[in-house]
Amino acid sequence: MRTPLIAANWKMNKTTEETRDFIIQFSPMVKDINNVEILIAPPFTSLAVAAKYLKGTGIKLGAQNVFYERSGAYTGEISPSMLKDCGCDYVIVGHSERRQYFHETDAIINKKLSAAQEVGLSVILCVGESLEQREEGKTFDVLKTQVSRGIEGAQPAMLVIAYEPVWAIGTGRTATPEQIQEAHGFIRNMLRETFKERADEIRILYGGSVNAENAHTILNIEDVDGALVGGASLKPDSFIKIIKAKGAMK
Ligand code: PGA
Repeated sequence: MRTPLIAANWKMNKTTEETRDFIIQFSPMVKDINNVEILIAPPFTSLAVAAKYLKGTGIKLGAQNVFYERSGAYTGEISPSMLKDCGCDYVIVGHSERRQYFHETDAIINKKLSAAQEVGLSVILCVGESLEQREEGKTFDVLKTQVSRGIEGAQPAMLVIAYEPVWAIGTGRTATPEQIQEAHGFIRNMLRETFKERADEIRILYGGSVNAENAHTILNIEDVDGALVGGASLKPDSFIKIIKAKGAMK
């Protein structure tokens, strides 16, 4: 049985002070929730303060990106062991915003995944088609390529997949339950082909405009093991409602 994972992707939001205030307000809200794993991924600059205030809360800490080299002359980059050192358990790789704005390829993303798992970080690998790709009927080709190239050499015990249709991210437009189940089922089958029975350890999250109103429907879909939440994770009140939408069902 997979423990559901509800992850907050704060993107480029919140100062250190705002991070501290969020955690002080939010952590008492989740103290009785033990059937859902909760993760917060703040910007790099807030990792240390988040680690300090998350201590003892059971809430996990993650980063939104990582570089694949161990150390050296890579100005502006952050290594996997630096994230471990900051208290991270998780790192998100291959987010569509990184693919789109920073030209990350499946090969780069796979290198990041391997380097992160090597130091014991669990990886949330994001995949998903653009609107154009969906309209051209290429959704499953895109997922096949992104998943197969992304997971090459991956360790299933430290792997989470997030299906995030690009057209649903930050748009207020979510995929329908049928579209979500179809994509998640497809990814689950691919994982079974690669990892056999160990595929059952891998959680598949949905991401893209998840909010307090639609969380119950989305999190109730058969092959959905949790959510990667952007905008609605920035306020404790809306994030807790999403977590409770999953927690309440178990
Ligand atoms: P959103 O972002 O919830 O704001 O759509 C999700 C994501 O990009 O991970």
